[in-house]
Amino acid sequence: MNRLAGKRALITGAARGIGLAFARRYRAEGAEVAIGDVDLARAQAAAAEIGAVAVEMDVTRQESIDAAMAETVNSLGGLDILVNNAALFSAAPLVEIERADFDRLMSVNIAGVLFTMQAAARQMIAQGSGGKIINMASQAGRRGESLVAVYCATKAAVISLTQSAGLNLIAHGINVNAIAPGVVDGEHWDGVDAFFAKYEGKAPGQKKREVGEAVPYGRMGTAADLEGMAVFLASQEADYIVAQTYNVDGGNWMS
Ligand SMILES: NC(=O)c1ccc[n+]([C@@H]2O[C@H](COP(=O)([O-])OP(=O)(O)OC[C@H]3O[C@@H](n4cnc5c(N)ncnc54)[C@H](O)[C@@H]3O)[C@@H](O)[C@H]2O)c1
Repeated sequence: MNRLAGKRALITGAARGIGLAFARRYRAEGAEVAIGDVDLARAQAAAAEIGAVAVEMDVTRQESIDAAMAETVNSLGGLDILVNNAALFSAAPLVEIERADFDRLMSVNIAGVLFTMQAAARQMIAQGSGGKIINMASQAGRRGESLVAVYCATKAAVISLTQSAGLNLIAHGINVNAIAPGVVDGEHWDGVDAFFAKYEGKAPGQKKREVGEAVPYGRMGTAADLEGMAVFLASQEADYIVAQTYNVDGGNWMS
């Protein structure tokens, strides 16, 4: 504990799920935390519970990214850690993919990651003492999936952006790395399960049970399973780690 003492972190999409678990754990490790989320009411409730700051943030809009960054810096006194966690999921057979859905996912999962990373990097460079940026990728970015073309493509892009940004920003002492989870239980996966129920004719909960049983570790992951990596990559122990994406997935993928 206290591995992030004195650090100031912004976590996007942290009103619930994995981001909220990271926010809680970062607080326990001594960091000041801003929860940036498009769902402000939920972000405020979460922030009140864990002693964080809630910041309204829609990562698809540049003015919202800029305002959220300014509010974070104003509230916390600076920024040392960014976790780019906000993302959307969708699924459909290739012939049914709608352009509007494609645009929405590209806008949140790719442009949101890139331009939030850019805003954080500008702040960290101005501060002059480096920083840590952690992007949430996915096993979905490691290979295609029959019904998940758009989401998989966005997560492959997150891995690529992590590499390019990592190589560019290390000159400023900013480490950019990513985490690729496998299947993580929570509200997000309830939505994923509903997509598969629709397209594969499965009973509610069936897909979730099947993917959990297929994990080499023997069960779905939990947000708690990812926290250790999120703390490690944000700590100075990760100073020499640059542009990497780490699988934390119970053995689902090896690379
Ligand atoms: N749950 C999984 O199985 C799993 C697996 C692999 C990767 N991931 C990745 O981990 C991250 C977190 O996943 P989760 O399961 O906690 O997701 P989640 O759906 O539970 O939470 C996502 C959060 O992002 C917020 N958000 C959505 N659009 C936004 C926007 N435009 N601006 C700001 N915030 C926005 C939502 O309000 C929500 O609070 C995501 O990047 C996801 O792709 C999740």
